[in-house]
Amino acid sequence: MSSLFTPLTLRAVTLPNRIALAPMCQYSAGPDGLPTDWHLVHLGARAVGGAALVMTEATAVVPEGRISPQDTGLWSGRHVDAWRPVTSFLTAHGAVPAVQLAHAGFKASTYRPWEPRRGGVPDVEGGWTPVGPTTEPFLPDYRVPTALDPAGISGVVEAFATAAGRAVDAGFAAVEIHAAHGYLLHEFLSPLTNQRTDGWGGDRAGRMRLTLEVARAVRATVGEDVPVLTRISATDWVEGGWTVADSVALAAELAAAGVDLVDCSSGGASPTAAIPLGRGYQVPLAAQVRREAQVPTGAVGLIVEPEQAEAIVADGEADLVLLGRELLRNPYWPHQAAAKLGADANWPNQYLRAV
Ligand SMILES: Cc1cc2nc3c(=O)[nH]c(=O)nc-3n(C[C@H](O)[C@H](O)[C@H](O)COP(=O)(O)O)c2cc1C
Repeated sequence: MSSLFTPLTLRAVTLPNRIALAPMCQYSAGPDGLPTDWHLVHLGARAVGGAALVMTEATAVVPEGRISPQDTGLWSGRHVDAWRPVTSFLTAHGAVPAVQLAHAGFKASTYRPWEPRRGGVPDVEGGWTPVGPTTEPFLPDYRVPTALDPAGISGVVEAFATAAGRAVDAGFAAVEIHAAHGYLLHEFLSPLTNQRTDGWGGDRAGRMRLTLEVARAVRATVGEDVPVLTRISATDWVEGGWTVADSVALAAELAAAGVDLVDCSSGGASPTAAIPLGRGYQVPLAAQVRREAQVPTGAVGLIVEPEQAEAIVADGEADLVLLGRELLRNPYWPHQAAAKLGADANWPNQYLRAV
């Protein structure tokens, strides 16, 4: 029997298998962060392909929290209306729709990757002044952020909570808080980027405060039935940076704050990090956090083969396997993996004659 094709229950939601579409920016939103037909077709194809959890890209809780001007958002009722057809299609095709709620912090207002220019987008091209833990920019060609004051920090917590409520209204059945990759929450967590001397910086407890307050506020808003996931960078891969031991401590506190699964990615706080890229390179991080913090985890990063994904779940390294680029290349990977692992493939009726 396949472990990868065993259901996973998180609160009131049961995923039919352990395969999730990893959150991936599409840089294809309409004006003001509204999702478009691209999002319906792109996410819809992965639901039809058999992924149990279909997660949106980093979706900004406030306009200034977008990575690029083309990112999606969830900061108004218009966004709720625009996301509804997407969540309704995903649900109708057997997937659990999830949204990744994000704030890009000092990495906001940058060009989308296929533009010829890099770095910060100026105001005249639709950019804006980002916010961060301090006024230090991420890179010299990024925009100089404004340092968040305590009122601004409270505003961020409230924005995550309000967006989570909107997500539920829009039909999302699960919410992921983005606290990884050098974006705002990770900027506060990491000693590399948080040089604050007030109660939001300093020791690990001070640096964890913003992420934990966001987690508590999101949990309080969505109620007891909706799963809340949190994506962390489990290590900065830099001497003196955030470590896996820090992640174990954070994961335990996140669980106490009402988070159901910790999605273990890595890196992003430092442009000079030496990341040991390779097949399943972040799986040991998910395994260590799961073992030592006793919380369900998600594994992500160069997971490409069905047998590899199967072993991650069967060996207890993670509860959920998130696939990014492999699902871009092949939306039907879950059905093909099921066939390979001897589980039910569940192809949609419309495609049965091709199976
Ligand atoms: C095009 C693209 C966009 C991405 N956007 C996001 C994002 O919005 N949020 C996030 O947490 N990670 C993002 N990531 C990282 C992926 O979720 C994933 O962690 C990473 O690609 C490693 O997994 P993979 O080897 O299966 O692709 C992105 C990756 C790609 C390739």
